[in-house]
Amino acid sequence: MKMKFFPVITTSLVGLALSSTVSALGCPAPPPPPPTQTASPNNYEAAAAKPVPPKPSVQPLLPWPTPPKPYCNSKCVPIVRKSWRKLSDSEKSQYIAAVKCLKKAKTVSGLAGAKGMFDDFQGIHSVQTPNIHWVGHFILWHRYFLAVYENALRKQCGYAGAQPYWDWETDNASGLDMDDWPIFDSKTGFGGNGPYQDGANPFNIPNRSGGGCVPDGPFASPAFTVNIGPGTSTTYNPHCLARDFSRTLMGWGNQTGINWVWDTPNYGWFARRIENIPDFTVPNIHGSGHFGVGGALGTMGDAYNSPGDPIFFLHHANLDRVFWQWQWQPKNLPHSLSDVSGPIIPFDYTNKQGGNVTTTFQVNIGGLAGNVTLLDLLNTQSTTLCYTYAAP
Ligand SMILES: *[C@@H]1O[C@H](CO)[C@@H](O)[C@H](O)[C@H]1NC(C)=O
Ligand SMILES: *[C@@H]1O[C@H](CO)[C@@H](O)[C@H](O)[C@H]1NC(C)=O
Ligand SMILES: *[C@@H]1O[C@H](CO)[C@@H](O)[C@H](O)[C@H]1NC(C)=O
Ligand SMILES: *[C@@H]1O[C@H](CO)[C@@H](O)[C@H](O)[C@H]1NC(C)=O
Ligand SMILES: *[C@@H]1O[C@H](CO)[C@@H](O)[C@H](O)[C@H]1NC(C)=O
Repeated sequence: MKMKFFPVITTSLVGLALSSTVSALGCPAPPPPPPTQTASPNNYEAAAAKPVPPKPSVQPLLPWPTPPKPYCNSKCVPIVRKSWRKLSDSEKSQYIAAVKCLKKAKTVSGLAGAKGMFDDFQGIHSVQTPNIHWVGHFILWHRYFLAVYENALRKQCGYAGAQPYWDWETDNASGLDMDDWPIFDSKTGFGGNGPYQDGANPFNIPNRSGGGCVPDGPFASPAFTVNIGPGTSTTYNPHCLARDFSRTLMGWGNQTGINWVWDTPNYGWFARRIENIPDFTVPNIHGSGHFGVGGALGTMGDAYNSPGDPIFFLHHANLDRVFWQWQWQPKNLPHSLSDVSGPIIPFDYTNKQGGNVTTTFQVNIGGLAGNVTLLDLLNTQSTTLCYTYAAP
């Protein structure tokens, strides 16, 4: 297949090189998927319909892994993604400066409302929202989206670091009010909650506490505006970044929730648990970061436009870190580098409407980068991707 290489990024790709074959630079091709791929659909369906509540567990179920040779490409010298809490103030300000720079970088998506490359990411997520959630490729699509964002910060904006992650479970366990979490700091973080505002709450988000414009920090209006949305619209509609904290939903982002996602034998189960079901009576760690911050009226709570809040990328980096940590466990290797499953069509867990994704399934992120296969995305120290994580 002829790849469409990054149209916007012409310099050498240190952090992210694209290639159509994983083995091209010496990383051994992973072995074929294990028999777990054909686990009973009936069990899976039953579990999906009735999610098992996680047992309370405070300690991480899995240790911090060291990605072992020979699965790593020797040409990949990974950049290291760190916890936001572990960055120095100067590293934090460099990251935020790069995000502001990306907001002004030349747009490549062709979407009418996008006024800079940051908006391209929001718009492309918006356009693809109906195809990338509650599907087998959810976590891998977002892994790619994030890696291309990280690469754009580095190549377009001279950012020297890696994409940080927001380990909300650490903040949650700190016992501090959300207003006092380092990530929401008005000077060194992303600014805080919006002031309380009445508004429609069709999904009954519990304990919503904001809803108005983020009043402080680097992404307050008018210096920063969300240019696309709400909903499916991708026309130009500048409005403020809004947040609507729900302490209850944010509380799902704890070690118990992560352990429950980790306690799975194969990709299909893992992928199912990381999203769980779209219902605010059942916990899920993906929804926690979105609706704990975005509630009913905030940008992070808008399924289409959540990447309009720069915190989106740190939330998804933590989900990717959870996936990464699970993948590199010795007991999950090597099949965690070649096993994918789950529906192509959203919620089609019984495969009545379409098939499952396979390793050759392609994901695309519009004009931001070329298509890659799910196999390309499974290994974070390969030729398509080249990064690792430092412990929180
Ligand atoms: C959250 O809302 C529920 C009702 O939706 C209420 O019972 C509970 O006390 C609230 N918790 C907090 C911390 O405000
Ligand atoms: C997480 O947040 C919830 C909600 O405020 C709180 O009850 C809980 O103690 C926190 N910590 C952990 C480890 O769950
Ligand atoms: C911790 O998270 C789990 C699952 O995400 C949830 O069931 C539980 O209620 C949370 N604990 C607290 C104290 O909020
Ligand atoms: C589709 O993926 C699910 C989740 O891994 C799995 O349980 C099911 O058996 C797969 N279906 C087929 C036809 O392989
Ligand atoms: C890229 O992937 C999408 C599916 O996500 C597919 O529809 C499209 O045809 C692919 N494009 C190329 C050039 O292969």
